[in-house]
Parts: sequence; C-alpha cells; structure tokens
Amino acid sequence: MIAGNEADRYAVMGNPIEHSKSPLIHRLFAEQTGQNLVYEAILVDPESFTKAVADFTGSAGKGLNITVPFKQEAWHIADELSERAQRAGAVNTLKIGDDNKLSGDNTDGIGLVRDLTHNLGLTLSGKQLLVLGAGGAVRGILAPLLEQRPSRLLIANRTVERAQQLATEFSDLGKLQSCGFADLKGIHFDIIINATAAGLQGQVPDLPDGVIDSGSCCYDLMYASEPTAFVRYARQRGVQASFDGLGMLVEQAAESFRIWRGIAPDTAPVIAALRHQ
Ligand code: ATR
Repeated sequence: MIAGNEADRYAVMGNPIEHSKSPLIHRLFAEQTGQNLVYEAILVDPESFTKAVADFTGSAGKGLNITVPFKQEAWHIADELSERAQRAGAVNTLKIGDDNKLSGDNTDGIGLVRDLTHNLGLTLSGKQLLVLGAGGAVRGILAPLLEQRPSRLLIANRTVERAQQLATEFSDLGKLQSCGFADLKGIHFDIIINATAAGLQGQVPDLPDGVIDSGSCCYDLMYASEPTAFVRYARQRGVQASFDGLGMLVEQAAESFRIWRGIAPDTAPVIAALRHQ
C-alpha cells in the first residue's frame, strides 16, 4: 500500500452477491502485487443496474466485475467492447476511464482456457471436446476454446435448438457441431465441460450411459466448497480427472485485474488459499 494515497475503488455487482469470492480474490491479488485498491461486493436490485453503475462511476469507481444476472445488461451499457466481449454477448469486466467511459470485456473464456491449460496441464489442441449447455456461459467460452484448435467441439444441450443456434453463430471461428443429450450415445470425448445451470439445483445433465467413463476428463464451470453435483457424478463413473470451476474463477479475476491494473497476478497461491478456506 502506498501511504497517503487514496485507494482506487473496484466492486462486483450481482444478485445474489453475498457468497461472492471476488472481494477475497482481488484483496489477495492486491496484497501480492502491492496495489492500493479496495474491492467490495454490491447487491444490485434487478431493475436498478444502470443506475448502480452510474452511481459507482460517479463516486470515482475505477472498475467493476459483473455477475449474474447483469452480464447482458452490462454488454448493452458499455461504451466500447473488446472483440471477445462482442462475441460473447456478455460483459463481466468494466473498466472505467478517466472520462467515465465504460470499456467492456469478458474474461470468462480466457479464465477457463488458462485453468485447463496452465493450471491443469491439459492440451486442447487436437482433442475431442464436448460442451454441455447452450446458455450465456457457453457463449462466453466458445471462441477461446476454438482458438485452441480442438479436433472436435460438440455443443450438446437439453433444448437442441439453442445448441444449433450457437453452433451456427460461431461457425466462422471453427468447426462446431450441435446435438441433444440423447444423441451422445456411443461417442467418446477427451474433455467434457459442464456449462449447464443444472448444478444450481444439484442436478446433472441427463446424459446417456457411457458418455462419461473412467478415461474422461471432466470440468464443471460451477464451483462450490463441496464437490459439485457434476464432479460427484463424474467420480461415481470412475473419472480421476474431474475438476470444478475454482481455477476458472480465479483466472477470470486475474485477467480482470490485469485489465484494470496492468499487472498479472500469480494465481496459484490464490487458488490454493481459496481451496483450503
Ligand atoms: P447461463 O448463463 O448459466 O448459461 P442460461 O443462459 O439460463 O444460464 O442457460 C442455462 C443452461 O443450462 C441452458 O443450456 C439450459 O438448458 P436449456 O437451454 O435446455 O434450458 C441448461 N440447464 C439448466 N438446467 C438444466 C438441467 N436440469 N439439465 C440440463 N441442462 C440444464
């Protein structure tokens, strides 16, 4: 901390927000890099997002993380968008310029890819990838996953039309296929990424037997202090390599921090601290 200087203000906005790990993650990043900032969690009424952002901007705020259910609204109010945010149709990071201009970015996809490749040591290039779900979370991860050049990327969703629509929309970035869960019978994948919201109800996608076996690598975008429903489901099928989204959570935060402060924090000690909380 630089004595005498007022700390720069950052926050995460969402609803609900009380269980957010972002204030802790950014406090650890700030301590590690010696940055003078404060980061709070702000509960925003569903009708008041634009006003909440304006209030924060008006009180010398420097940057925001945006979480459920405001990522699409943040996309709409941003004055400019990074290419990856443009593609994702959602913004999780707003940088507030000196002129109060809002620059929107989406760091979710790069967060996932960094966790898979740097932290977990997985290679995506040439691999067969299955993505479960076709909602906002999937929209944010498709471009960075395709950049890794998997040999196959199949989107499977309960409502098959949504998977088809995403596959069409992102088809200029790489070869994408889509199907319903029942169509997965008999197909092997190297890496299976659960990006459905099923886990919020403690459920897992209704996959045919055999899609996940002991040789699969499973990743759940969700994170909880206990193993998530999908991680438990994978373990029950003998999967050794099954991971929750804690690493992605920390990596997406690190990318936001880099955008705001120009410094990339070391994520490993922060992931370890949160894991052992
Ligand atoms: P998010 O921003 O988390 O992606 P979303 O846009 O509402 O949220 O999308 C939720 C995703 O989870 C969808 O793919 C949804 O499937 P449908 O398109 O068929 O609704 C999926 N989902 C939610 N609950 C599910 C469940 N119990 N089983 C399988 N998929 C589920």
